[in-house]
Amino acid sequence: MAKVPVAKLYNHYYIDRKFERLNLFRQLKEKYGGTRVLYPGSYVHITPSFVYPEAVYVDKDPEASRFFANPANYAFVDKRKHYSEPASITFHEADYQIGINEPAQSVDLLISQYAGFVSLHCKHYLKVGGILLVNDSHGDATMASLDEDFQFIEYGNQVEGKYTLSDMYMDTYFVTKAETELTREWALKHMRGFKFRREADVYVFRRIK
Ligand SMILES: C[S@@+](CC[C@H](N)C(=O)[O-])C[C@H]1O[C@@H](n2cnc3c(N)ncnc32)[C@H](O)[C@@H]1O
Repeated sequence: MAKVPVAKLYNHYYIDRKFERLNLFRQLKEKYGGTRVLYPGSYVHITPSFVYPEAVYVDKDPEASRFFANPANYAFVDKRKHYSEPASITFHEADYQIGINEPAQSVDLLISQYAGFVSLHCKHYLKVGGILLVNDSHGDATMASLDEDFQFIEYGNQVEGKYTLSDMYMDTYFVTKAETELTREWALKHMRGFKFRREADVYVFRRIK
């Protein structure tokens, strides 16, 4: 298989696959405001920078590091951004479980998408009152649902890349089937979402303490 040049990674993984999730970030920004986001396990998914003027990306993959090392690779952010100030983009090549050099409670939005237990290891960077966007691909929404510091505030589903957020029937989400017991140990061991009665593509939580 031909290796994708670093400069083309965003097009290859996100534009060609119609998986930018831009409309999701736009809705979150409109609803909850905020300027600074943290995206552990981002790979080269730089879409949040179209909406949020300050973004900190973290990934342990050297390929992501090569992408971010050259601003020419993401010059398209300037053309597509929805705010007037210059985009501030920081990248850390790091294992987010070990920690990154960013202040505690310094971000308004923490993003967890297909990259393990971001909510668990990076919660302390999120302001109290800030928002967690999470999916359950690796069990991180399950983990957040068990964390008393997070309050589940809405969920979203997508059709052809367009997300609809809702807070209807909230009490029907994260409901387990009677015969199975969900614990943090289960989530840590299995690293995948629990089989709940009702599931969504993404979940939104607020850090409440
Ligand atoms: C499947 S990709 C998802 C990329 C992006 N979040 C998205 O939704 O398109 C998972 C990424 O998370 C990164 N990752 C997983 N665990 C990590 C960790 N502990 N520290 C830093 N990066 C991690 C991987 O290197 C990989 O680039």
